[in-house]
Amino acid sequence: MDPFAPIAEAYEAWYETPLGAFVIAEEERALLRLLPPGESLLEVGAGTGYWLRRLPYPRKVGLEPSEAMRRLGQARAPEAVWVAGRGEDLPFAEGSFDLVLLFTTLEFVEDVEKTLSEARRVLRPGGALVVGILEALSPWAALYRRLGEKGVLPWTRARFLSREDLLALLGPPEAEAGAVHLAPEAPPPFLEAEAAGRRAGNRPALYLGRWR
Ligand SMILES: C[S@@+](CC[C@H](N)C(=O)[O-])C[C@H]1O[C@@H](n2cnc3c(N)ncnc32)[C@H](O)[C@@H]1O
Repeated sequence: MDPFAPIAEAYEAWYETPLGAFVIAEEERALLRLLPPGESLLEVGAGTGYWLRRLPYPRKVGLEPSEAMRRLGQARAPEAVWVAGRGEDLPFAEGSFDLVLLFTTLEFVEDVEKTLSEARRVLRPGGALVVGILEALSPWAALYRRLGEKGVLPWTRARFLSREDLLALLGPPEAEAGAVHLAPEAPPPFLEAEAAGRRAGNRPALYLGRWR
Protein backbone atom coordinates (compact mmCIF):
# COMPACT_ATOMS: atom_id res chain seq x y z
CA MET A 1 0.00 0.00 0.00
CA ASP A 2 1.26 3.49 -0.92
CA PRO A 3 1.20 5.57 2.31
CA PHE A 4 1.22 8.78 0.28
CA ALA A 5 -1.84 8.00 -1.88
CA PRO A 6 -4.48 9.13 0.66
CA ILE A 7 -2.57 12.31 1.57
CA ALA A 8 -1.26 13.38 -1.84
CA GLU A 9 -3.89 16.09 -2.47
CA ALA A 10 -3.35 17.67 0.95
CA TYR A 11 0.44 17.18 1.02
CA GLU A 12 1.38 20.84 0.41
CA ALA A 13 -1.61 22.40 2.21
CA TRP A 14 0.27 22.69 5.51
CA TYR A 15 2.74 25.12 3.90
CA GLU A 16 -0.12 27.62 3.74
CA THR A 17 -0.65 27.72 7.51
CA PRO A 18 1.33 30.38 9.43
CA LEU A 19 3.67 27.80 11.04
CA GLY A 20 3.94 25.76 7.84
CA ALA A 21 4.88 28.88 5.83
CA PHE A 22 7.59 29.75 8.37
CA VAL A 23 8.98 26.20 8.37
CA ILE A 24 9.09 25.78 4.60
CA ALA A 25 10.74 29.20 4.17
CA GLU A 26 13.44 28.27 6.72
CA GLU A 27 13.96 24.93 4.96
CA GLU A 28 14.23 26.61 1.57
CA ARG A 29 16.80 29.09 2.86
CA ALA A 30 18.95 26.23 4.22
CA LEU A 31 18.55 24.17 1.04
CA LEU A 32 19.49 27.06 -1.25
CA ARG A 33 22.67 27.63 0.76
CA LEU A 34 23.79 24.07 0.02
CA LEU A 35 22.80 23.71 -3.62
CA PRO A 36 25.67 24.18 -6.08
CA PRO A 37 25.23 25.54 -9.61
CA GLY A 38 24.78 22.96 -12.37
CA GLU A 39 22.81 21.96 -15.45
CA SER A 40 20.97 18.85 -14.37
CA LEU A 41 19.11 17.93 -11.19
CA LEU A 42 17.55 14.61 -10.22
CA GLU A 43 15.23 14.63 -7.22
CA VAL A 44 14.71 11.11 -5.87
CA GLY A 45 11.29 10.92 -4.22
CA ALA A 46 10.15 14.18 -5.79
CA GLY A 47 6.67 13.98 -4.27
CA THR A 48 4.31 16.61 -5.66
CA GLY A 49 7.16 18.58 -7.21
CA TYR A 50 7.42 21.33 -4.61
CA TRP A 51 11.22 21.64 -4.89
CA LEU A 52 11.32 20.92 -8.61
CA ARG A 53 9.11 23.99 -9.12
CA ARG A 54 11.32 26.19 -6.97
CA LEU A 55 14.85 25.11 -7.88
CA PRO A 56 16.45 26.88 -10.84
CA TYR A 57 18.15 24.16 -12.94
CA PRO A 58 17.85 23.94 -16.76
CA ARG A 59 17.26 20.15 -16.75
CA LYS A 60 15.15 18.72 -13.93
CA VAL A 61 14.06 15.12 -13.43
CA GLY A 62 11.71 13.91 -10.72
CA LEU A 63 11.71 10.24 -9.79
CA GLU A 64 8.67 9.26 -7.77
CA PRO A 65 7.15 5.82 -7.03
CA SER A 66 3.75 6.98 -5.75
CA GLU A 67 1.35 7.32 -8.66
CA ALA A 68 -0.82 9.79 -6.74
CA MET A 69 2.09 12.05 -5.81
CA ARG A 70 3.63 11.77 -9.29
CA ARG A 71 0.39 12.68 -11.06
CA LEU A 72 0.13 15.89 -9.02
CA GLY A 73 3.82 16.60 -9.53
CA GLN A 74 3.49 16.23 -13.28
CA ALA A 75 0.61 18.73 -13.31
CA ARG A 76 2.32 21.22 -10.97
CA ALA A 77 5.90 20.98 -12.27
CA PRO A 78 5.48 20.23 -15.99
CA GLU A 79 8.92 21.75 -16.66
CA ALA A 80 10.47 18.62 -15.12
CA VAL A 81 10.66 15.16 -16.66
CA TRP A 82 8.80 12.73 -14.35
CA VAL A 83 9.83 9.12 -14.04
CA ALA A 84 8.16 6.30 -12.13
CA GLY A 85 10.68 4.33 -10.11
CA ARG A 86 12.38 3.71 -6.79
CA GLY A 87 15.54 5.16 -5.36
CA GLU A 88 16.91 1.64 -4.83
CA ASP A 89 17.01 1.01 -8.58
CA LEU A 90 17.43 4.22 -10.58
CA PRO A 91 16.63 3.90 -14.29
CA PHE A 92 19.51 6.19 -15.36
CA ALA A 93 23.03 5.60 -16.68
CA GLU A 94 25.96 6.35 -14.43
CA GLY A 95 27.19 9.92 -14.47
CA SER A 96 23.85 11.34 -15.72
CA PHE A 97 23.37 14.27 -13.31
CA ASP A 98 25.27 17.24 -11.83
CA LEU A 99 23.16 17.11 -8.69
CA VAL A 100 21.05 14.49 -6.93
CA LEU A 101 18.67 15.64 -4.21
CA LEU A 102 17.04 13.44 -1.59
CA PHE A 103 14.77 15.63 0.52
CA THR A 104 12.96 13.74 3.33
CA THR A 105 12.91 10.64 1.13
CA LEU A 106 15.31 8.34 3.03
CA GLU A 107 12.64 8.20 5.75
CA PHE A 108 10.43 6.17 3.40
CA VAL A 109 12.67 4.05 1.14
CA GLU A 110 12.98 0.32 1.78
CA ASP A 111 16.77 0.25 1.59
CA VAL A 112 18.70 3.37 2.63
CA GLU A 113 22.16 2.10 1.66
CA LYS A 114 21.07 0.95 -1.80
CA THR A 115 19.31 4.27 -2.41
CA LEU A 116 22.43 6.24 -1.48
CA SER A 117 24.70 4.09 -3.61
CA GLU A 118 22.34 4.45 -6.58
CA ALA A 119 22.28 8.24 -6.08
CA ARG A 120 26.09 8.28 -6.20
CA ARG A 121 26.19 6.02 -9.26
CA VAL A 122 24.08 8.40 -11.38
CA LEU A 123 26.10 11.49 -10.36
CA ARG A 124 28.77 12.72 -12.77
CA PRO A 125 32.29 12.67 -11.30
CA GLY A 126 32.51 15.65 -8.96
CA GLY A 127 28.71 16.03 -8.90
CA ALA A 128 26.91 16.87 -5.66
CA LEU A 129 24.66 14.68 -3.55
CA VAL A 130 22.43 16.80 -1.30
CA VAL A 131 20.48 14.93 1.38
CA GLY A 132 17.88 16.39 3.75
CA ILE A 133 16.58 14.27 6.62
CA LEU A 134 14.07 14.74 9.41
CA GLU A 135 16.57 14.66 12.27
CA ALA A 136 15.75 11.70 14.55
CA LEU A 137 16.70 13.63 17.69
CA SER A 138 14.61 16.72 16.97
CA PRO A 139 11.33 17.56 18.74
CA TRP A 140 9.57 17.18 15.38
CA ALA A 141 10.68 13.54 14.99
CA ALA A 142 9.18 12.84 18.44
CA LEU A 143 5.85 14.16 17.16
CA TYR A 144 6.07 12.21 13.89
CA ARG A 145 6.95 8.98 15.74
CA ARG A 146 3.93 9.44 17.98
CA LEU A 147 1.69 10.07 14.97
CA GLY A 148 3.06 6.87 13.42
CA GLU A 149 2.20 4.93 16.57
CA LYS A 150 -1.33 6.34 16.32
CA GLY A 151 -1.67 5.13 12.72
CA VAL A 152 -1.38 8.53 11.00
CA LEU A 153 -0.07 8.35 7.42
CA PRO A 154 2.61 8.56 6.16
CA TRP A 155 4.35 8.32 9.57
CA THR A 156 3.35 4.68 10.10
CA ARG A 157 5.97 3.89 7.43
CA ALA A 158 8.71 6.33 8.41
CA ARG A 159 12.17 5.67 9.86
CA PHE A 160 14.20 8.48 11.33
CA LEU A 161 17.94 8.96 10.91
CA SER A 162 20.13 11.30 12.92
CA ARG A 163 22.95 13.40 11.50
CA GLU A 164 25.37 10.83 12.95
CA ASP A 165 23.55 7.96 11.19
CA LEU A 166 23.84 9.77 7.86
CA LEU A 167 27.52 10.61 8.38
CA ALA A 168 28.20 6.96 9.22
CA LEU A 169 26.70 6.05 5.83
CA LEU A 170 28.19 8.82 3.69
CA GLY A 171 31.30 10.04 5.49
CA PRO A 172 32.00 13.66 6.37
CA PRO A 173 29.96 16.17 4.34
CA GLU A 174 31.49 18.93 2.26
CA ALA A 175 28.93 21.32 3.76
CA GLU A 176 25.98 21.07 6.11
CA ALA A 177 23.04 23.09 7.38
CA GLY A 178 20.13 22.78 9.78
CA ALA A 179 16.74 24.44 9.80
CA VAL A 180 13.76 24.69 12.14
CA HIS A 181 14.83 24.67 15.77
CA LEU A 182 11.49 25.78 17.14
CA ALA A 183 9.15 23.15 18.61
CA PRO A 184 6.12 21.92 16.61
CA GLU A 185 3.75 23.65 19.02
CA ALA A 186 5.65 26.92 19.24
CA PRO A 187 3.40 30.00 19.30
CA PRO A 188 4.19 33.06 17.18
CA PRO A 189 6.28 35.10 16.77
CA PHE A 190 8.10 32.21 15.12
CA LEU A 191 11.41 34.02 14.62
CA GLU A 192 11.67 34.45 18.38
CA ALA A 193 10.69 30.81 18.96
CA GLU A 194 13.32 29.76 16.41
CA ALA A 195 16.04 31.73 18.22
CA ALA A 196 14.90 30.32 21.58
CA GLY A 197 14.93 26.77 20.17
CA ARG A 198 18.51 27.28 19.00
CA ARG A 199 19.52 28.63 22.40
CA ALA A 200 17.81 25.68 24.10
CA GLY A 201 19.98 23.31 22.04
CA ASN A 202 17.16 21.67 20.08
CA ARG A 203 18.34 19.65 17.12
CA PRO A 204 16.93 21.13 13.89
CA ALA A 205 13.93 19.35 12.38
CA LEU A 206 15.77 19.30 9.06
CA TYR A 207 19.42 18.33 8.72
CA LEU A 208 20.99 18.91 5.30
CA GLY A 209 24.36 17.78 4.03
CA ARG A 210 26.25 17.93 0.73
CA TRP A 211 28.67 15.23 -0.43
CA ARG A 212 30.83 14.96 -3.59
C1 LIG B 1 8.04 13.11 2.57
S1 LIG B 1 7.86 12.90 0.85
C2 LIG B 1 8.99 14.12 0.22
C3 LIG B 1 8.62 14.60 -1.17
C4 LIG B 1 9.54 15.68 -1.72
N1 LIG B 1 10.92 15.28 -1.68
C5 LIG B 1 9.35 16.98 -0.96
O1 LIG B 1 10.23 17.33 -0.16
O2 LIG B 1 8.33 17.65 -1.17
C6 LIG B 1 8.70 11.37 0.55
C7 LIG B 1 8.57 10.89 -0.89
O3 LIG B 1 9.42 9.75 -1.07
C8 LIG B 1 8.74 8.85 -1.92
N2 LIG B 1 9.29 7.48 -1.78
C9 LIG B 1 8.85 6.48 -0.98
N3 LIG B 1 9.58 5.37 -1.18
C10 LIG B 1 10.50 5.68 -2.12
C11 LIG B 1 11.54 4.94 -2.77
N4 LIG B 1 11.79 3.65 -2.47
N5 LIG B 1 12.27 5.57 -3.71
C12 LIG B 1 12.06 6.87 -4.00
N6 LIG B 1 11.08 7.62 -3.43
C13 LIG B 1 10.32 7.03 -2.49
C14 LIG B 1 7.29 8.96 -1.47
O4 LIG B 1 6.40 8.42 -2.43
C15 LIG B 1 7.15 10.45 -1.24
O5 LIG B 1 6.72 11.14 -2.39
